[in-house]
Amino acid sequence: MDAVRIYGGKCLEGQTTIQGSKNASLPILAATLLINGICEIENCPEISDVYHMLRLLKSLGCEVERKGTLVRVNTEKLSECDMPSDSVGVMRSSIMLLGALLARTGRVCMEYPGGCVIGSRPINLHLQSLRKMGVVIEENETGFCAETSRLRGTVLKLPFVSVGVTENAILAAVLAEGETVIKPAAREPEIQALCEFLQRAGAKIDGIGSNCLVIHGVNRLHAVRYRVPADRIVAGTYLSACMCTGGRIFLRDAPAHHMESVLNCAVEMGAAIEYETDGILINGRDHEATCHMLATGCYPAFPTDMQSPFMVVMALSGQRGCIEETVFENRFRIVPELCKMGADITVHGNTAYIGSSKLHGAIVQAEELRGGAALVVAALAVEGTSIVTNRHYIDRGYEDIVLSLRQLGASIELA
Ligand code: EPZ
Repeated sequence: MDAVRIYGGKCLEGQTTIQGSKNASLPILAATLLINGICEIENCPEISDVYHMLRLLKSLGCEVERKGTLVRVNTEKLSECDMPSDSVGVMRSSIMLLGALLARTGRVCMEYPGGCVIGSRPINLHLQSLRKMGVVIEENETGFCAETSRLRGTVLKLPFVSVGVTENAILAAVLAEGETVIKPAAREPEIQALCEFLQRAGAKIDGIGSNCLVIHGVNRLHAVRYRVPADRIVAGTYLSACMCTGGRIFLRDAPAHHMESVLNCAVEMGAAIEYETDGILINGRDHEATCHMLATGCYPAFPTDMQSPFMVVMALSGQRGCIEETVFENRFRIVPELCKMGADITVHGNTAYIGSSKLHGAIVQAEELRGGAALVVAALAVEGTSIVTNRHYIDRGYEDIVLSLRQLGASIELA
């Protein structure tokens, strides 16, 4: 079955190593298209989103090898510039191949990547930015064809921060003619990793980590070997699990320096964090403290991808709280499932109000990646047996959530 079964109510005790970042790996794999040669990407997580990205690269004529978490991409035989619709449909982040492919081949045709349950996920700003860089884009009801003789640097003034648009603009700008300014640029650690990868390949990028990026186009980039940083959202997920169950866990390689807002909130909610050189040691919550109000935002604010796991922490805290979701328009899909477990949560607009109630085991359904992981966190903490179905959503971003949680002492199995 495509599910996990969890025997809840146990404190977590143990240690696990945090995988490489999904949201850094995907744009970096897209960036290999800018390099006519062989790039080696270390610590690339073995998750289905990466599998689909590698399949897309292969469908474009790249040679792809994977040995564990080492991925080798050879783009010398890149041929295609039409992305196969079955792959685009499966993974919407295929849109981030657009900028790199245009820079490499000058022409791309693809279907519109779908939305998902957390939001409509439009790509208007992606297309608007590329048009400003000299790309002619002809749209039809199912997709579009984009073409350019040479990408031109320009000033991209975005109406708001977008991670994906920042990434596509960077990938289009590094080989463009002239200078490109992106503001406000997203500052997420995954974007910083992408910029580091590109700089190592010879790109000229200023303002990394700030909300204004200046990219000076160069003529070519050279092949590199790069290690993907650890996944801050996976680390935050296991942190929230320890806060809910109590106990003491060590998360090896957790990128504490990129988790400040999450760790501060965790401490406010009663967790005790010890910083080691190779990870973080977490003592579960003392059940006294709690943070009554939480709002998501762009980095370095509290990340939207941690909203569902921390809703579970709040729901189990025995105290009232509320969460405002400011990034996606429909990211409370976990609420009806948590209510099946006895939670008292109501949603008004983009705010969820969490009451105090006792939760119990239940059969619940994942509908997207982070909500699915959060349901697993809830099931670990409550008395009784739970089953979380649609495990494939969780497999998109977590290498082996069953193994990792077992290493942390959880009673969990594939179902
Ligand atoms: C990235 O999505 C991440 N995905 C998301 O992680 C993450 O939640 C999100 O950034 C915010 O941090 C990857 O990196 C693969 P956005 P992205 O563009 O780039 C609107 C996960 O669980 N928008 O920053 O799609 C958009 O609808 C995933 O790992 C437009 O309106 O997010 C949203 O409301 C979920 N027009 C807002 O911007 C556009 O052209 C921010 O989205 C583009 C975006």
